Amino acid sequence: MLSSTFVLLFAATALALNFDWERDQLTDEEAAPNAAIRFGSTLAVTAPPAGCKVIPGDAQWPSEADWASFNETLGGALLRPTPLGSVCYAGEGYSAAVCERLKRDWAGMNLHTDDPTSILSQWASGNTCPPTSQPNSNCTQGGWPVYVVKATSVRHVQLAVNFARNQNIRLVIKNSGHDFNGKSIGGHSLSVWTHHLKGITYDADYTSPTGSYTGRAVAYAAGVQAYEGAALMRRENMFMIIAGGSTVGIAGGFLQGGGHSSHTSYYGLAADQVLAITAVTADGHVVEAHEGKNEDLFWAFRGGGTFGIITSVVVKAFPATPMTSGSIRFSTTPPRGSTAAPLSTETFWAGMRAYWAFSLAICDAGGLGYNFIYPKSSSTGLAFTVSIAVPNMSTAEYRRFVRPLLQQLHDLGIEQPMPTLKRSYIPSSFEEEDEPPTTSKRSAPGETTGHTLIASRFFSRTNFNTSSRREEAHLSIRHLVEHGDLTFHGMNYAPTLAVAGHPSNAVNPAFRTTVLHAQGYEPNAHWDGEAAIVSRAALSARHERLQRYMQVWRDITPGSGSYINEGDAQDWEWKAAFFGSHYPRLLAVKRKYDPQGVFWAIGAVGNDEWEMRDGDGGRRQGIVTQDGRLCRVGS
Ligand SMILES: Cc1cc2nc3c(=O)[nH]c(=O)nc-3n(C[C@H](O)[C@H](O)[C@H](O)COP(=O)(O)OP(=O)(O)OC[C@H]3O[C@@H](n4cnc5c(N)ncnc54)[C@H](O)[C@@H]3O)c2cc1C
Ligand SMILES: *[C@@H]1O[C@H](CO)[C@@H](O)[C@H](O)[C@H]1NC(C)=O
Ligand SMILES: *[C@@H]1O[C@H](CO)[C@@H](O)[C@H](O)[C@H]1NC(C)=O
Ligand SMILES: *[C@@H]1O[C@H](CO)[C@@H](O)[C@H](O)[C@H]1NC(C)=O
Ligand SMILES: *[C@@H]1O[C@H](CO)[C@@H](O)[C@H](O)[C@H]1NC(C)=O
Repeated sequence: MLSSTFVLLFAATALALNFDWERDQLTDEEAAPNAAIRFGSTLAVTAPPAGCKVIPGDAQWPSEADWASFNETLGGALLRPTPLGSVCYAGEGYSAAVCERLKRDWAGMNLHTDDPTSILSQWASGNTCPPTSQPNSNCTQGGWPVYVVKATSVRHVQLAVNFARNQNIRLVIKNSGHDFNGKSIGGHSLSVWTHHLKGITYDADYTSPTGSYTGRAVAYAAGVQAYEGAALMRRENMFMIIAGGSTVGIAGGFLQGGGHSSHTSYYGLAADQVLAITAVTADGHVVEAHEGKNEDLFWAFRGGGTFGIITSVVVKAFPATPMTSGSIRFSTTPPRGSTAAPLSTETFWAGMRAYWAFSLAICDAGGLGYNFIYPKSSSTGLAFTVSIAVPNMSTAEYRRFVRPLLQQLHDLGIEQPMPTLKRSYIPSSFEEEDEPPTTSKRSAPGETTGHTLIASRFFSRTNFNTSSRREEAHLSIRHLVEHGDLTFHGMNYAPTLAVAGHPSNAVNPAFRTTVLHAQGYEPNAHWDGEAAIVSRAALSARHERLQRYMQVWRDITPGSGSYINEGDAQDWEWKAAFFGSHYPRLLAVKRKYDPQGVFWAIGAVGNDEWEMRDGDGGRRQGIVTQDGRLCRVGS
């Protein structure tokens, strides 16, 4: 008796729980008598269920009474939201006024990031309920989850995992909804909404569980977003790795997929600086993972994706690190009012060559070259913009640093004044933002709400350090912009193992040799207040087209990869592209901790063990949207 109490107490205090709501946990005594919510059996012995996940209408789908009693165990945290756009359709929830407001704000981001189910990449939902002026058309649930657990405690997360697993219902996780591939939604599913799991604390003198690290650290919860990290940095006069998009969640998809920032070439990736993770695994239990405990899980979570639901993390922090930045822009059609001369197309591309030749120096200085090339058909015409930011460089040093590039451009007839320089301790996009950005915030280029498809590829140093390879890379990028009429978004950074501090984690090996994370995407359509219905056939054709341009990049970057968080989850070579040589080891971790495939997501480890089927049971052709039924392959 005494000894078992002791063991229990010891087990509880051994978990480095960071927030009060993490102590609110489901107990075995409470769960055991209730078949719907009991814990999973011993890991690694349960075979995955054959067949399909249960959906509404199936005999096994829980009754209204079952859901009501589930809601009771949750203390009322169960939601049954209709898609955001449903207010525009005739019926109970119809409201012309709310619909108008919705249409006005639709292209912004907060509307979607703060909603229980909505996401930025709407196309993935199957587009079954877009905001419309035709109230008599049909709105269906499509790819949106049926039920949502609005989690405010670990117990809520455990209950959702147990309930979904025991009832064989698809489970999805929504944090901020930024994922470009619709990984945070799923048709006929139960969703765990982590957005309200908040909390962030700084410790200037933290000791890691094994004692191998002492120093600055930050503990933060699953729902914390980049702007909250920025506010803490300012308050505590330190630096931590956060995403550039202010509402991106920094403990979820961002950190699990790698997570690049303003300081990628200086401190490595977000996944490189994690000290400890607390998570709920597929059996419903709370586990801690760090270099002295559940090492395999700890390894996999840092770069390899979702192997459980993270409730909080502890990450390394750094001394406040100033950054100096400035922007360069040139184009064939200078903006109205500008004194810059229009450039010929060939001069423009010669300017690009000069930039690529300079770009390795940015990486080697620990900096970031954050750039875009807009195609001729865009509102700017053929244009290049780049913000060059270098940590820990004085403004005088910075001027000396960029002068060779400006001279090169000048010699080509591209006049560039010395850029206006900014010096800041947090990424400049956060300078005036303590609060979440207002709802009316519009999507900037790259912040694509709606139907834009995106794909990515890492170019390595060998693509740029000889003039012939550089020319080849240059032409492949020019091809995408000129021939493909696509927008190019590049980030010159280099999260080498050396700058990352030689972590042993599952970060895509292709990240370690890259000097350019290159993306191609379709230009944002102008938002006219009406969401276009895009058929799956049309979307599939566009997806194929984008992948054909990626093939040009793949051909000249053999053995490299793609960034799962800002790429195409349906990349033709997804396994090699997102995980490289880590795939077999990641699959083994997946089998051990999630043998039943509770955490399936498109493009994730084990993606090919399940497939999306239509109502008639047919396997999906073309692009996969989330409005089908998830079934085990081969059953
Ligand atoms: C405007 C914008 C700016 C961006 N800026 C950057 C950037 O600077 N650097 C960068 O690296 N990426 C950036 N991204 C990409 C970003 O990393 C991905 O969109 C990422 O998936 C977002 O994670 P999330 O948890 O906020 O989003 P969600 O869409 O809510 O979730 C994404 C995935 O993570 C999983 N997940 C979320 N929370 C958890 C959890 N607690 N436990 C387990 N799994 C979880 C979900 O299941 C889902 O599969 C940006 C994206 C956008 C749209
Ligand atoms: C769950 O219970 C709460 C509180 O009683 C209630 O407000 C909510 O509507 C319920 N959810 C569902 C899906 O019925
Ligand atoms: C809506 O759905 C019904 C039933 O499936 C169908 O008969 C009708 O034509 C649809 N209406 C529109 C406008 O698509
Ligand atoms: C900045 O650089 C100097 C050397 O030039 C170094 O001593 C210092 O630690 C650096 N500061 C940070 C925060 O990296
Ligand atoms: C180019 O970079 C690769 C990889 O770092 C290196 O092996 C090679 O020696 C470099 N070549 C030149 C010419 O610098």
